[in-house]
Amino acid sequence: MNIPELVKTADGSDTLFVREIDEHYHSTFGAVQESMHIFIEAGLHQFDQASVNIFEVGFGTGLNAYLTALECIKTNQSILYITIEKFPLPSSIWNSLNYSEIVPEGNPLLFQMIHNAAWNEKVKITDRFSILKRSADLTDIDYSSFPMFDLVYFDAFSPEKQPELWETGIFLELASHCAHQAKLVTYCAKGVVRRSLITAGFTVERIPGPPGKREILRGTLE
Ligand SMILES: C[S@@+](CC[C@H](N)C(=O)[O-])C[C@H]1O[C@@H](n2cnc3c(N)ncnc32)[C@H](O)[C@@H]1O
Repeated sequence: MNIPELVKTADGSDTLFVREIDEHYHSTFGAVQESMHIFIEAGLHQFDQASVNIFEVGFGTGLNAYLTALECIKTNQSILYITIEKFPLPSSIWNSLNYSEIVPEGNPLLFQMIHNAAWNEKVKITDRFSILKRSADLTDIDYSSFPMFDLVYFDAFSPEKQPELWETGIFLELASHCAHQAKLVTYCAKGVVRRSLITAGFTVERIPGPPGKREILRGTLE
């Protein structure tokens, strides 16, 4: 994949644009606003248990990991954040993202630590937040070394651009590595995705999306 281009979204936060597939990493209505709404509020905030294992599809800019680590500092929860990425970004790109300045109570050091954490090793970032960044392809991932997931941030590029990442088989495999009552959140509310999640064993809710997106999906594994 070519190096993506930095672009500004409507809430002032940066995102990246991949010209060859005509796709942004986040909503152009607001990258931080979207991540907060979908992954933090509709996802992480649904958990009050002492420890949460999160699995993210697509580490990308590290925005979801960063927002999750910031939330973790405010609570007593312990989080293990497992994330996979097929195309890790060069430091010249992630260093120029403005998330540390734009996010309230931002923490530039935390953002740097998340990005500088070695790939394919579990790294302790704070007392209660550890990250394991796996350089891997979702279509070819071996889940066996991971603990069971409580929460999945499904943040792949759209099904129009990468249909192979949204197939029922992907969700079935993921579900087999999720704890009872695990939740999966995604920005994509398409019927085909909803049906795949249901086939994989999730009860799926359509919930209101962030600005620019009428609905998003949240699945709960029964
Ligand atoms: C919509 S972007 C979101 C990234 C990230 N969550 C963020 O906030 O920046 C999708 C990400 O999935 C990654 N990706 C694409 N194909 C993949 C694959 N087959 N396996 C794992 N990751 C993939 C892309 O490189 C990109 O970083």
